Amino acid sequence: MRFKLSSGKEIPVEMHKARMVQKVFLVPAKERAEAMKGAGYNTFLLKTKDIFLDMLTDSGVNAMSDHQMAGFIDTDDAYAGSRTFYEFADAVQDVLGYKYVMNVHQGRAAEHLLAKTFIKNGDVVATNYHFTTTRVHIDLMSGGPACLELYTDDALKTDSQVLFKGNMSPDRLKDTIKKYGKEKMAYVRMEASTNLIGGQPFSMANYKEITKIAKDLGILTVLDGSLICENAYMIKEREKGYENKTVAEIVKELCSLVDIYYMSGRKNTCCRGGCIATNNKELFDRISPWLPAYEGFYTYGGMSQREVGMMAVGMREMTDPEVAGCSVEQVRYFVGRLKDEGIPVVTPPGALGCHIDARKFAPHIPKEGYIAGAVTAALYIASGIRAMERGTVSMERNPDGSEAYADVELTRIAVPRRVYTMSQLEYAVDRVAWLHKNRELIGGLTWKEEPPVLRFFVGKLDPINDWGTKLAAAFKKDFGDKI
Ligand SMILES: Cc1ncc(COP(=O)(O)O)c(C=O)c1O
Repeated sequence: MRFKLSSGKEIPVEMHKARMVQKVFLVPAKERAEAMKGAGYNTFLLKTKDIFLDMLTDSGVNAMSDHQMAGFIDTDDAYAGSRTFYEFADAVQDVLGYKYVMNVHQGRAAEHLLAKTFIKNGDVVATNYHFTTTRVHIDLMSGGPACLELYTDDALKTDSQVLFKGNMSPDRLKDTIKKYGKEKMAYVRMEASTNLIGGQPFSMANYKEITKIAKDLGILTVLDGSLICENAYMIKEREKGYENKTVAEIVKELCSLVDIYYMSGRKNTCCRGGCIATNNKELFDRISPWLPAYEGFYTYGGMSQREVGMMAVGMREMTDPEVAGCSVEQVRYFVGRLKDEGIPVVTPPGALGCHIDARKFAPHIPKEGYIAGAVTAALYIASGIRAMERGTVSMERNPDGSEAYADVELTRIAVPRRVYTMSQLEYAVDRVAWLHKNRELIGGLTWKEEPPVLRFFVGKLDPINDWGTKLAAAFKKDFGDKI
């Protein structure tokens, strides 16, 4: 919730209280530089014992509510026919409006099943923007690059006033259908609060137009609703005609307009797992036979019943504006504070985290030096904050082996839901600002070990000229050797 202070300044105020906490530690800069080296300049490979604020992701690390914890305990552990699964299915029907649902072990498992069921060799999928795992599943099933990103001209402008950068371009969609023919269009996929371009929402008007174009031609429509509530929250705030609707009503409207919905349960529902849902029995029956082969029996789909129980409660809680808006409000504050400090960040603020435009932050690093990877590693050394590279390292190479440079080089500082306090955000702002003042010390990276697929997870890089050690020394000079 955003409160106005007597000074006129607005701040996000948490509408919850902490009743259980986890201790965190800040190791000194010299140790952080060593830890970063050991992790191959890949923040995924750091150990949490070396991390102060874990802002790698908002996935699977959100704070659960007391009711979710109760849902965790009050579960029916059965291989088949569990009461807990049916409670989850009821929540899906009530909140999303879908009659048929299956659990999967996480969002990418849904992507796998959808790709397996609906994509044939040579097919393409139109999307507003890809997510890393989405693209891999689509390309694998089609037999080549098949994930077409039909974003609008504004999507990749990091410093912008455009409120709906997650929109898909209707003209580009029509041209694409003309080019490939509707038979080759496996589906049109819209991703809520488009992750890789900075958690940016699409508008309801755009979403309606896109889904109508597809439906009129009989092309399947799919919504990735992993971040649906934040998108709905931003529609309510930003789109004319929706200011008096509730987040819950907007979520239901979004769901009513597509054939198939899927989500990662690690995000909006603040737990683990995922699901695929639809009102079309025929589509459901095409996907569901594969579920036991890849995920597990129908009434657990790769999740433990405890997780299903938590997800059932999380599903009912996620449209509460205090939950739907908690990260949006913190991100807005965080972005505003970083802008005050002159830091190039993605605007308007979106969902899930604050995104530094690494190209502008460290313009002296050439693109071959993996700019966002370098800034992300440097931020850890300067602060103990673990962020995530969302740039070229997160891309797959071109089929000919050449580097596929990312459209945008972002360092994403995620804001998990109901986890960090305002003082921790202020600490983050201060350390990002310090790093920006010392940005000339950041150098490029080069591959040491590069896996063939989704290399950002476990790939290792080397700093060119051991700049991490020099950065840690500069930090020590300013702050002493205790932090
Ligand atoms: C938009 C979106 N779709 C799909 C996924 C994949 O979900 P999971 O991590 O649960 O496999 C993610 C994960 O971050 C996501 O952000």
